[in-house]
Order: sequence, then C-alpha cells, then structure tokens
Amino acid sequence: MDSLLIKGGVPLHGEVQISGAKNAVLPIMAATLLTAEPCVIHRVPDLSDVKFMGKILNSLGAEVSFEGDTLTVCARRIKGHGDYELIRKMRGSICILGPLLARLRKAEVSQPGGCVIGTRPIDLHLKGLRALGAKIEIEAGYIRARAARLAGTEIFLGGRAGPTVLGTANIMTAAVLAEGVTIIESAACEPEVMDLAQFLNAMGAKIQGAGSPTITITGVKELHGAEHEVIPDRIEAATFALAAAVTGGEITIHGAKPEHLNAVIDKLREAGVKLERRGAALLVKRGSRLQPVDVTTLPYAGFPTDVQAQMMTLMCLTPGISIITERIFESRFSHVAELGRLGADISIEGPSAIVKGGKRLSGAPVMASDLRASAALVLAGLAAKGTTQVNRIYHLDRGYEKIDDKLRKLGGRIERIKET
Ligand code: EPU
Repeated sequence: MDSLLIKGGVPLHGEVQISGAKNAVLPIMAATLLTAEPCVIHRVPDLSDVKFMGKILNSLGAEVSFEGDTLTVCARRIKGHGDYELIRKMRGSICILGPLLARLRKAEVSQPGGCVIGTRPIDLHLKGLRALGAKIEIEAGYIRARAARLAGTEIFLGGRAGPTVLGTANIMTAAVLAEGVTIIESAACEPEVMDLAQFLNAMGAKIQGAGSPTITITGVKELHGAEHEVIPDRIEAATFALAAAVTGGEITIHGAKPEHLNAVIDKLREAGVKLERRGAALLVKRGSRLQPVDVTTLPYAGFPTDVQAQMMTLMCLTPGISIITERIFESRFSHVAELGRLGADISIEGPSAIVKGGKRLSGAPVMASDLRASAALVLAGLAAKGTTQVNRIYHLDRGYEKIDDKLRKLGGRIERIKET
C-alpha cells in the first residue's frame, strides 16, 4: 500500500483548483441506470471511488467510458444484481438500489455493511422504498426488492441523526418513475442532493424543492439521456482552506462555491482564519492569532461531519481548549489516536472530543483509517516539525483527486512512496 512522506513546517502558498464533488458524482452515476440512452457527465474527479462506481455500473451491464474528466455511461440493457464482492467495498454504492428498482421493478443488491465511522444502517432507505410500494426482503446478506408498480406518496425520511443523504437520493431516483406525486419530508438539503435533482430534471424528471427539507417529485413514464456538470467538491475546498490555516500560508481556492461553505467559513473566521472572496475565488490565510472554538457537526447547512477531522487538526495547533461534537456518525474519531502520535492532546467524552491545543506537533509514522481522518493526518503532517509518514493512503485516493500533486504545487514537501 502506498504511503505519503511529508516534511512539515512549510507554509503553503499559491493557487489550487477544486475538482468535482465525489459525493455528488456517485449518486449521479447511479442515476444513469434510469435510462437506456447515453448520459454525459462533466467535471468527474479522478478518484478510486469513481472508478469503482464505474466498475459497478459495468457489472450491471452498462457501457462506461472516461475521457479526461468526462464520463459517458450508456445503460442500454442492464441487470438488477449488485454483487457483494463489489458493493461491500464502497458504502456509497447503495445508491444503485433506487434506480435499479425504478427501471427494472426489481433489484437485488448486497447490503453494504458498516464502516469505520459507524454502523451506517439503511432502514430509512428501505422505509422510503416500501412506502413507494416495493416489497423488500433481506435474505442471505442481500436486499431483494420488487415492485409491480411504484406509486407516489408522502414519505417522512428523518431519522435518529436527522435526514439521510443517500437515502434521499435513493427515494428520489425511485420516485421519478413512480406513478403520481411523491413528497419527501425531512429530506437531506445537501448541495449534492440538489445536484442529483438537477441531473434527473435534465433527464426529464419533475423534481421541485431539492435543497430544502420538502422535495416534490411528479413521476414520469420514462427518462432520457442528459449532459451534466458536477458541482465542485465543498469538502475538498474546506480541506485546502484548512491547509492554508494549519501551515500559516496563503492559498487562493479556485472553482469552489463559497455559498456551499458558509458554516465552514464562519467557523474558520471565528477561529482566526482570514477568508475573502476575490471574484469567483476564495483567498484563505491564517490571521495573527488562532482562537479556540467549539464545533458541532450537523446536517447541511450546519458544519459538515466530513470536515470534522480536518478541523480538529487546526484545533490541535490553537492555544486553549476547543471542543468538537460529532452528531452525525457515532464513531468518527479514529484520527484522534493518530493525531496523538504527533503530540496532540485530545480526549474523548461521549460524542465530543476535547482538544487542548497549542503545542507544536512533531512528525511520526501514522496510519490512515478512513478518508477524512487521512486528510486530517496529512494536514497535521504539513504543520508538524520533522517528517510524517501517512500509511494506507488508499483511503485518501478514494476522495481527493491528486492531493499530493496539488499540495506539492502549493510548496508542500510531500512525496508518494509506492509500495514495491
Ligand atoms: N442513517 C440512519 N438510517 C439510514 C441512513 C442513515 O439511521 O437509513 C443515519 C446514519 O447512521 C448517520 C446519519 O443517518 O448517523 C446520516 O447518514 P447519511 O445517510 O446522511 O450518510 P450517507 O448518505 O451514507 C453521505 C456521504 C458521507 C457523509 C454523509 C453525511 C456519500 C457517498 N457519502 O453518506 O460522506 O459523511 O452523507 O453528510 O455521499 C465522506 O465523503 O467521507 C463520507 C463519509
């Protein structure tokens, strides 16, 4: 497995271009299964999760081709079986369930299982599909769904931790081909849900209200091929903003949508980071003094759980006590022990991490355990004195396009060590 060798202590300076959003493109790719006509998707990030979703679509019978950052999928004839060996490797692949059920009226998809950040149930996905008329059984590790007819209805999709992003995607993609009107209440409001709705509408769907807690979908008989450009990755943009902050540098972020980053920008300003809009770009630099802050992760438009780990790295460098409360996933603190190896002082109390910050971090070998935890360790390595080796970076390659190249262009001393 590849690792990253980082010589820390260099403030990052320069410009960075943000790629297309991983969490937008995955459900959009799944939605191409809804039509037999070709779909063309632009600004597709070069990520292992995206390639993997391509493999899944391929295994279902779709033709998939990449050219630069453009992806073409043609799902002329497909089958409805999502195999365990593929699905288990990427939790996001659950979003094929809605499109398969809508197009074929039956689907058999392996249960995705949990992952390092929590158990990640899919009860809300199944509740929503059942409400649309699907009969669903769980058997031998597979979700077996069939529906002679899907019919629009009102569905309340709020759960224990609030709305569900991929659950909303699954219900939306099933309801577009249902008879009548579906109203999803307590829908996820994430920009990625809006992007999916835009793509579906370009395919001929009739969806209103995406981006708000109430989404209204009027079913249509069939969808056609469409062309779409994926939104920029707000989590990648936030990660680069934090790279400027933790290294004490100055980075101009191009291609992000600052309006998707309001909660992050607000917290960073409170923490003493300067962020300014320069036309379409966002200029980020550390102010004269960092301030401790308290952060609670929440569904959009709150502070994103996907930036919690990276924010913790900044807290480690901030004199005083900062608190992060994780309200979305029950065990998303696997970076805490590894940050401790770099000298951070963090304790966990229930859903909160208490960070006693302000000590200089010093480089050490660390182990990446999930995507955003890996990003937090890379940021810590860039800020630390000495050399940090981040092992198991395949997690990072799942969600950050060429992160080492982008950081190197900003002056980061970062090198990929290929496993021989
Ligand atoms: N939940 C349920 N029941 C369900 C579904 C979810 O209780 O049926 C709970 C989850 O256990 C969690 C909360 O609801 O406590 C929110 O989970 P959600 O379903 O929104 O997560 P997801 O859709 O599976 C997506 C992203 C995650 C991101 C979350 C939250 C993709 C491919 N994944 O996951 O991204 O953290 O939304 O914003 O879109 C990442 O990129 O690193 C990542 C993990």
